[in-house]
Amino acid sequence: MSSGNSSREYFGSKVGFVLAAAGSAVGLGNMWRFPYQAAEGGGAAFVVLYILMTFLIGVPIMTSEFIIGRSAKRSPIGAFRLIGGRRWVPVGYLVVFAPFLILVYFSVISGWTLRYAIDAISGFSGEPAIRFAEISSGTPAVLYHLILMTVTTVVVMRGVRAGIERAALILMPVLLVLIIALVAWAATLPGSAQGYEFYLSPSIDDLLEPSVIKQAAAQAFLSLSVGMGVMITYASYLDRGNDLTQEAITVSLLDFSVAFLGGLIVFPVIFALGLSDQLGESTIGALFISIPAAFTEMGAAGQIVGLVFFSTLLVAALTSSFSLLEVVVASLMDELKLTRKKSALIAGTVAAVAGILPASSQSALGAMDKLAGDVFVVAGALGSVLLAGWVLKDPATELLKGASKFLARTAPGLLFVIRYVVPAFVAIVLWSNISWF
Ligand code: PHE
Repeated sequence: MSSGNSSREYFGSKVGFVLAAAGSAVGLGNMWRFPYQAAEGGGAAFVVLYILMTFLIGVPIMTSEFIIGRSAKRSPIGAFRLIGGRRWVPVGYLVVFAPFLILVYFSVISGWTLRYAIDAISGFSGEPAIRFAEISSGTPAVLYHLILMTVTTVVVMRGVRAGIERAALILMPVLLVLIIALVAWAATLPGSAQGYEFYLSPSIDDLLEPSVIKQAAAQAFLSLSVGMGVMITYASYLDRGNDLTQEAITVSLLDFSVAFLGGLIVFPVIFALGLSDQLGESTIGALFISIPAAFTEMGAAGQIVGLVFFSTLLVAALTSSFSLLEVVVASLMDELKLTRKKSALIAGTVAAVAGILPASSQSALGAMDKLAGDVFVVAGALGSVLLAGWVLKDPATELLKGASKFLARTAPGLLFVIRYVVPAFVAIVLWSNISWF
């Protein structure tokens, strides 16, 4: 253990780390946010841009965060302080506050998901839009949010290995199997061809549209869980020679695959039921109305597939929530020297109380999503690449530790991208998002 932090927890295996990081990345962002963002951004053009953003910009950002976390072996605030000195501490605070904000409203949406999974068991009933209004407001919304915050807190309280890693090792394979089953099922639907066409044939005009490029970038960052201190925190629990570039590519590939497969489920379902006019509606609830509407019409089959669909979404959401809470908990532990148990209880309780606002108001929830997704994630990503590329003394050495021969050869190129290309691009996105606000 290089930093002398002998009490620090560590992941037990490489797979455990990769699945925990992928568990963070794969979440509501993939199956709820990605399809509606893709619909809004013109379908296939958005998908193409999203791939480019994920691999050309996202992978270098994630690698930077891995470099920071593994070399500092501290949670974000301490890592920014150690590497950059006092001036960088505010960025550390930003990348701890941002995941807290996301946790608060993701937990509310996860609550809706749990409720829909239960609805599926008893058979979806009633008019979908009215049902959504019931589920997403008042006491039920608060109650289900509290249930999910409790589960998240309990898992995080158990620690890195026994809580987060173990949950990821069980839940991620289940998630992948369920998703593949859903994709296969969606392919059998009568409207699938039309759904695929909308989703997979890009129009060249949209590819060059700055607003779509920007939107694809922000979506890619949020979906990869970068810019949020998560990857810094998880990498701080690495003590072995992981190949950081390779892990970043694997996690990004998994994240992209699930988002892409999510589209292969959602679009055929929507086209099969002639609900494509709802695609343009980028409201938060669109997916939660049109998908249950589809399942309602399918009768008994809809009940089973509905249960699988919402359980999948729930599993994905939970593994992300663990990582979001972990950033805050790790920071409380490191900064205030509190025990894990106490930190988890404090952070979990504050998040539970704060969630009452988005649980009661969808416009508050939307505003939180916008602020976190358009500004905080991008600002956090910029801070992290600048720290790794320009402030950290010798990022190359950290990057090369554990690197395979093949990827070691890409290190100079990757560091060039981390220093120049990514900051320039991300700064432009940030600037235009802030001025848009
Ligand atoms: N990446 C998660 C998703 O796609 C969301 C998330 C963002 C999780 C930032 C952690 C940190 O749903």
